[in-house]
Amino acid sequence: MISFLSHTTTLLYQRAIKPILFRSTPDAVHSRLIRLSALRQKFPLSDSLVSLMWAYHNQAALGQKIDGVYFPNPVGLSAGFDKSIELLPTIKAVGFGYETGGSVTFLPCEGNPRPWFYRLPTSKSLVVNVGLANDGTTTALQRIKRYRQKVLTDFPLVMSVAKTNNPQNCSDSEAIEDYLGSLQQLKDEPRVTIVEINISCPNAYGGEPFTDPPRLAALMKAIDGLKIAKPIWVKMPINLAWPEFDALLKIITAHNVQGVTIGNLSKDRRSETVSVELPNEVKGNLSGLPTQKLSDDLIEKTYREYGDRLTIIGVGGIFTAEDAYRKICLGANLVGLITGMIFEGPQLVGQVNRKLVELLKRDNFSTIGEAVGSAHRTPQV
Ligand SMILES: Cc1cc2nc3c(=O)[nH]c(=O)nc-3n(C[C@H](O)[C@H](O)[C@H](O)COP(=O)(O)O)c2cc1C
Repeated sequence: MISFLSHTTTLLYQRAIKPILFRSTPDAVHSRLIRLSALRQKFPLSDSLVSLMWAYHNQAALGQKIDGVYFPNPVGLSAGFDKSIELLPTIKAVGFGYETGGSVTFLPCEGNPRPWFYRLPTSKSLVVNVGLANDGTTTALQRIKRYRQKVLTDFPLVMSVAKTNNPQNCSDSEAIEDYLGSLQQLKDEPRVTIVEINISCPNAYGGEPFTDPPRLAALMKAIDGLKIAKPIWVKMPINLAWPEFDALLKIITAHNVQGVTIGNLSKDRRSETVSVELPNEVKGNLSGLPTQKLSDDLIEKTYREYGDRLTIIGVGGIFTAEDAYRKICLGANLVGLITGMIFEGPQLVGQVNRKLVELLKRDNFSTIGEAVGSAHRTPQV
């Protein structure tokens, strides 16, 4: 019955809803979606209905403890879709195993001039140029505190933190102070389970200074000084060759960091996965399919070198359960997505989880944890 509802939603989304949505600009759809979800959340009973229609629960096979935190399933919302933590109940109800909220910044931030998004349907990608628009860490935290406790039970909230996108505070020491300003507020908030340090936003003023190893070391040292007791993850850039990526991991593993999220948007507008010539006036960087192989390759290498030291969160171009499973077998403990949900519909999350259980059975694994890194042990993937 539930599988039937999920299948019907796929047809409805692909044949009716998506053609209507894709007729409006992506910026308009995004704003309407947030308003609609906020309205729906005024009726908490509808959470159960949404969950019944789309979510898939199988904690025996899909649940796992990572960095001391229990995740009911491995499929999370990646950072950037719920920037100011307005959608938490909806994200849980559709069946995600965790949410990465943000990226939030110390000061509220209007982001880059619109448009923020440009669709590339044939490349299964969005060109993103939001520039860290968000209400700021303080307001996001106030919102988190207002949710009913039930929403956060068995639903880890990862808070992604970036530097405020403004031309001020751009020296390294000012930028570090900006990160610390957010982290000071988040570190003792019990409702925030994990913090993710976003060093790789490609759409912000001043670029990505902390993807330079010595500057990253300075940021990490300052964060160590806060003695944060929660797990800390770092959101990694995705266009680096392995030696440069490895140089960042060497710094990260020398500090109080438990995991790496691999990775952020792709800056390679000329990749063969981009099937159209992008006009110069379209500003931004690419999500979805153009990130998929970059992410898979870096997950594989990171697991091989650091699998016993770092939790790996695999993000980039997940459109099917097979995409998620491949990242897990290559070494990702958890996965995250945004673009897949925008292109396929919200029922995708439950469908991925349901099919993951079938893939586990096919490969004689009883739990998702057994599959993590299995491509390094068996020749079949
Ligand atoms: C609309 C949008 C906004 C994003 N904003 C952020 C952000 O604020 N912080 C961040 O770390 N990543 C951000 N990202 C990157 C995603 O978290 C993710 O790394 C990337 O999109 C690849 O995943 P996907 O192919 O599943 O979308 C954003 C992506 C999209 C599509």
